[in-house]
Parts: sequence; C-alpha cells; structure tokens
Amino acid sequence: MTFVLEAAYAAPQAVATAFASQVIQWQKTHGRNSLPWQNTQDPYRVWLSEIMLQQTQVSSVLEYFPRFLARFPDVKSLAAASLDDVLALWSGLGYYSRARNLYRCAQQVMEVHGGRFPPTAELLQTLPGIGRSTAAAIASFCYGERAAILDANVKRVLTRVLGFGADLAVAANERALWDQATALLPAQAGLDTMPRYTQGLMDLGATVCAPRQPTCLLCPVQPVCKAQREGAPEKYPVKTRKLKRSTESWWLLWAQDPAGRVWLQRRPDAGVWAGLYCLPVFHSRDALAASVGTVALDDLPVFLHVLTHKDLYLHPVQTQWPQDKRPGPNGGWVEAPRWVEMGLPAPIRKLLSAIE
Ligand code: ADE
Repeated sequence: MTFVLEAAYAAPQAVATAFASQVIQWQKTHGRNSLPWQNTQDPYRVWLSEIMLQQTQVSSVLEYFPRFLARFPDVKSLAAASLDDVLALWSGLGYYSRARNLYRCAQQVMEVHGGRFPPTAELLQTLPGIGRSTAAAIASFCYGERAAILDANVKRVLTRVLGFGADLAVAANERALWDQATALLPAQAGLDTMPRYTQGLMDLGATVCAPRQPTCLLCPVQPVCKAQREGAPEKYPVKTRKLKRSTESWWLLWAQDPAGRVWLQRRPDAGVWAGLYCLPVFHSRDALAASVGTVALDDLPVFLHVLTHKDLYLHPVQTQWPQDKRPGPNGGWVEAPRWVEMGLPAPIRKLLSAIE
C-alpha cells in the first residue's frame, strides 16, 4: 500500500529541489518576517507562539503573546506559576487544553530537562501538547533541524503540489504524506535554510494556497504543482471523515448576592471548559429551578456559542441571591474586579461584563 502511494505521489528529485528553493526565495520577499515570535532561536518563545497559533488567528496571538511573555518571560517563571494564573492569561484564546498542556510542559522542561528545551524534534515530541508538526516547527526554527511540518495549511499546499488524492482520513495515507513532506525538505539542514522553508510553507498555506480560490498566478511553486496542471486545485486535500457535531443546551445560574458578587464554580477537569471558572451549569431549566428553591428567576435571552464539536445554546438565568445561604455546595462569591483576572470562558466573561 505504502509502496503504491510512494510510486504514485513521490515528486522526482528535480521537482523536490526546485520546490524547496522556490519556497525559500518566495518567503524572503513575500512571506511574514517581522512577527514578534520570529527572528529568535529561543525555544521558549517559539514554542509558546506555535501553541498559541494552533487553531488561532495570527491577529489574536499578536494580542496574547506579548502579554503572556511579560508575565512569564521564561520557562522557569511559567513552571512556577499556578494553573489558575496560566488559564487566566489564556482566557479568551479558546482550546484550553493547550494552556493546561503548556503548563505541564513547562514543568517537565524544568524537572526532566534541567530547564532547557530538548535539542531535537524527536525529543520535543515527548513533551505534553507538542505533536509531531509542532516539534518539527520548533526544531527547524530554533535548531535548523531538517524536520517536516504538516499542519492543516501545509497539508493543503503539499497535497496540491503532489496531486496527492488519497483520503487523509486513512492513517496509512496520512503517513505517506508525512514521508513526502520529508522528501521535499531542503537537502541541507541549518539555520540559513530550515526556518525560512518552514515559515514559507506556513505562509503559502495561509495566503496564496487558500482553501477556496487559491491565487495560483502568484504562487512560487505553480510550475511544479500537479493540482494546478490538472486545473482543479480545490479538490485537494481529500478527507472523507466529517466532524460529528452535536447540539446541547445549558442553563447558567447567574446568582448575585446583595453586594453584587457573582457565584462561580470551577468546571470539572475534563470536558468543555475544563478547569475554568464558570457560572453553575444545569442541563435543564427544571434542574436549575429545583436546585435554587424559592428565589425568583429572570430568564435572559438565549445565545449560541460554537465549539469545535458542539453547538452550545446558553440560557442565562439571573437571580438576586439572599445573603443567608449559598447557591450550591461548590464554588464561591467573586467580586467583579477579581473575576476579570480569572480564567473564564469567553462567552461567560462577555455575559458578566454586562454588570459593569
Ligand atoms: N501558524 C503556525 N505557526 C505559525 C508561524 N510560525 N507563523 C505564522 N503562522 C503560523
């Protein structure tokens, strides 16, 4: 199977050589070269930026990255922080498992690697939250290692160039594409080739080689692109398995005491918004009403929050809470200035900001 794929999709050596040098040349003049996490070989900064950039727009990371670095300038300070502080700084970026892994990773770098990030992609991959592509990005940016990246944007670029039509939902096909990504790397490792090549692939995927209506006329690898020759670049990549989405409704108890404080609970360690502070969640209006007893409830308008696998319909229910009892067994009263500092899911933060 792999043999057949290799025969079908392997680029001839001349194409591989032309590909890498075109990507590098193009990156110099048309790529992104002055982002705050570029022009450094500090693995801490590069790692932090790569984790933030997963599933997140550059424009959002431009806002969060300097703030995070100002608070945690190195891996030592991050490892010594509390998870709550890390989640608070991550609040609003989404995909909070990234923040939990970031924190665990910093601790492992301190405890297992003596405070230094490991020097190869293979070793970097053993750390929490660092997958094969992220490990390769860090190793190529910081150490000039000849390691292939393959995130969603780069998959699009490479499947098009190679005319790789095999279904990427099949693990063997994905492995074959990794092999091809490795075969297309510049022949020489080093800091004068690898960072620019890696960044160039990312930049091509983010700009020219768009999912729809790619601007092939501006593409530096158009002369070697099989999909462009076929005249239908948009048919790549092929991936059959669709994300199975579900829908849920959550009722949020928004209780305020006479001093205006809000009752917040920590979410369980697994599932949606794991470990973040949140209004108490109920899975029906009846369950919420049964839990609170006789206090008057005010139903606020429902709103939709879209997660990767789930559409969440959020139903806030507001109530003025009498001073003498607690709204639930877990949680605590939090004053407005304090919850601003805490790790809250973005829609809850937005909801509560209506108080001020
Ligand atoms: N996406 C992932 N890594 C990136 C990087 N280094 N620069 C811009 N976008 C990216």
